[in-house]
Amino acid sequence: MAADDVPGPEIRRLTPADLAAYKALRDEGLARHEDAFAADVETERAFSPESYLPRLGLSDPLGGTFLLGAFAGGQLVGGLSLERAALRKLRHTATLTTMVVHPAHGGRGTGAALVAACLAEARQAHGLEMITLSVSTSSARAVRLYERAGFERWGLLPHALRIGDGAQARYFDKLYMVYRLHPKVA
Ligand SMILES: CC(C)(COP(=O)(O)OP(=O)(O)OC[C@H]1O[C@@H](n2cnc3c(N)ncnc32)[C@H](O)[C@@H]1OP(=O)(O)O)[C@@H](O)C(=O)NCCC(=O)NCCS
Repeated sequence: MAADDVPGPEIRRLTPADLAAYKALRDEGLARHEDAFAADVETERAFSPESYLPRLGLSDPLGGTFLLGAFAGGQLVGGLSLERAALRKLRHTATLTTMVVHPAHGGRGTGAALVAACLAEARQAHGLEMITLSVSTSSARAVRLYERAGFERWGLLPHALRIGDGAQARYFDKLYMVYRLHPKVA
């Protein structure tokens, strides 16, 4: 089969049955890319797969909260989380977090497909107007991907992440980005 004939990943919303695979992918990503995520793997390893149940958005009638997964050969190889704000004055916003693609499946458009599917699903959510995210400047591939998808930079927080303490501390800056689902809305 020629490289061009390799089927793209299947992208779909995760269900409770996917949470064990989601946790495995997530923990592996947190461990491999500690500069990319605010969550630390030592803390998250203690969480059960069921602890991620609220992220599926099953009880949210308005939409805008979900986990998306990318599947190749039936295996979960990538994912992201969209979480709609709970406060009434922030309900028009949702935050994209924890995007990860297993390195064995990187560089084939899986990350781009996940973000495109996220934007399409978010457009179906009643009253949702914008998606925000923060991304470490060290995650250059992710920054490029978000900009290609149409996210705009609006801020930079130097030393947003601190890994380690004292003389061992390493700092990472975070870019803040926004995507407007309905650009004509001021
Ligand atoms: C960032 C991340 C999710 C991207 O996933 P991915 O599946 O590799 O993303 P894509 O394949 O869509 O794009 C990656 C690159 O492959 C290229 N690409 C996509 N399809 C391709 C193809 N068929 N042939 C060749 N290159 C291709 C893209 O142009 C892009 O190039 P660039 O890095 O020069 O900009 C992944 O690298 C990752 O998990 N990184 C660590 C965690 C992280 O930083 N997460 C973001 C937290 S905010």
